[in-house]
Amino acid sequence: MTYDFDIPTERHGTDCLKFDRAEKRGRSADLLSLWVADMDFPTAPEIVDAIIERTKHGIFGYTEPGAEYFAALDNWLAQRYGWHVTEDEVIVAPGVVYALAMAVRAFTEPGDAVIIQQPVYYPFSFVVTENERTLVNAQLAYDGKRYHIDFEELERLIEESNAKLFILCNPHNPVGRAWAVGELEQLGKICLRHGVVVVSDEIHMDFARPGIEHVPFATLNEQFAQNCVACTSASKTFNLAGLQVANIVIPNKDLRRAFRDEVISSGYSQPNTLGMVATQAAYEHGGSWLDQLKDYLEGNWQLLGEMLEDRTPELQLIEAESTYLAWIDCRALGLDAWQLERFIEDEAKLWLDCGHIFGAGGDGFIRINIATQRSYLERAIDQLASAVEKRRTNL
Ligand SMILES: Cc1ncc(COP(=O)(O)O)c(C=O)c1O
Repeated sequence: MTYDFDIPTERHGTDCLKFDRAEKRGRSADLLSLWVADMDFPTAPEIVDAIIERTKHGIFGYTEPGAEYFAALDNWLAQRYGWHVTEDEVIVAPGVVYALAMAVRAFTEPGDAVIIQQPVYYPFSFVVTENERTLVNAQLAYDGKRYHIDFEELERLIEESNAKLFILCNPHNPVGRAWAVGELEQLGKICLRHGVVVVSDEIHMDFARPGIEHVPFATLNEQFAQNCVACTSASKTFNLAGLQVANIVIPNKDLRRAFRDEVISSGYSQPNTLGMVATQAAYEHGGSWLDQLKDYLEGNWQLLGEMLEDRTPELQLIEAESTYLAWIDCRALGLDAWQLERFIEDEAKLWLDCGHIFGAGGDGFIRINIATQRSYLERAIDQLASAVEKRRTNL
């Protein structure tokens, strides 16, 4: 079966954050919206069918995933990443950010240091600071083209802060790196040396671009697996975020028990029934849809790259290895964080995530979610390029 990702689906009027909450969030309703990380594509029809079938039953009492659910997850991870997971190792959670918060609470005490790598998805900071832990930023190094991990600095910060937990973003939102085996090995060894548990947020794992391999941290070796909380979900891959299911893989029994205790004390037990049905259907039947979606997204990456190159030499698109989030260096415009935000909204008429919200190293950058119909993306890039061109002539 072939899927057509060009067909627009009206999202206004569905209470979606991306379009229906502009005014509530202080944005004008006429901005083109490319901020929050969900997609403008309906999920795979096979998943919709499974949800419809389940809703026909009419009873939505408490449910719990069974053997078929875990087999579907295991098959997906094994076929795509050579990663086998067992039912025992998996804790189902209502989301990855929730799981990050549970990990912070389970493996650290108030005041303890937690390492993150900014610029990074902003809830990484909130789950640390809102739980009264100390945020330690092992900032990513940027050489003007690409992001790297400064391993010496990472180890120094871990030693200095006596950190207990490291929250890794793989692939990294927003800078788009899919960390390579060598990088994961180095950071995994540093964490083992200092008794730091690794929480690996791999929610964007299925979006590795052609020629790039996503390597789940837990697959590198048994020691890493035993020191790791791996956060996975079908939500980004299949556009199911509103159905709120994540699969948290924790091979180590003691870590798993501590994590589960925290989940229980938060009052969470069974997952959303439809989320569970959708996740299982996604992993059982969604492979071909995803592969075609990724081809479509490649076309969007190409369009974005070409239009920026032709029209806005001031802006530099960072070469993404994964995700559907474009990270663009706008520092040559010479605007501070506030001015850039005003420029994007008032001149380009776009609703984007500006870089400063991702923490240190984010100022002067913007993030564009390209998981939309190509025609919409083209309009948005045109608006951005026109605003830059106008500014250039007015200077
Ligand atoms: C890196 C990362 N982790 C987690 C999430 C959100 O996950 P959830 O909706 O399962 O809490 C996002 C959403 O953008 C993300 O980019």
